[in-house]
Amino acid sequence: MQVLISSERIRDRVDELGAEITADFDGQPITVVGVLTGCLVFLADLIRRLNHPTHIALLQASSYRGTATSPGELTVRDELLPDMTGRHVLLLDDILDTGRTISKLVDHLKSKGAASVRTCVLLRKIGRQTVEFEPDYVGFAIPDKFVIGYGLDFNDLYRHLPFIAVLPDSATTGG
Ligand code: IMP
Ligand code: MG
Repeated sequence: MQVLISSERIRDRVDELGAEITADFDGQPITVVGVLTGCLVFLADLIRRLNHPTHIALLQASSYRGTATSPGELTVRDELLPDMTGRHVLLLDDILDTGRTISKLVDHLKSKGAASVRTCVLLRKIGRQTVEFEPDYVGFAIPDKFVIGYGLDFNDLYRHLPFIAVLPDSATTGG
């Protein structure tokens, strides 16, 4: 398996992000909203670097490609979210690809009454964005390859890997 980002590099970068976020929020309570399921490992590591009053909340976003919905329409499941009114949110996702998911979720959280929404992604794929959107915090910019590990999956597998790797062709072809 081709390791793209080692667990040591991830740890060092998460340390830096934690310090940056802690400084930027300046003592203000943060509600970290994680996007399931890819956020889980990143969220668990990052929140332990925030020196803050911190709340944790989770939601799920998925793109359906059925006949009843237009292609790739985003469905948000937010029944686990607490009342967002007046909260200062840090929205956390594993990867920014086209940008559709995170930009929609920012609008969604604002419509739920969040006072502010900042965004943090562990990875950002270069040259893939179709929606104009600038995240506030980015862990690593990566080339346009399908990656797995540290929360990121292929068919719900490989999330447990402690590093980020490029998905081998053998994993998709069965060979
Ligand atoms: P976007 O809406 O196109 O930005 O897609 C973001 C979502 O697509 C992420 O939350 C991931 O679930 C998924 N995704 C995009 N690229 C990859 C990848 O390389 N590996 C695993 N998941 C990915
Ligand atoms: Mg995802």
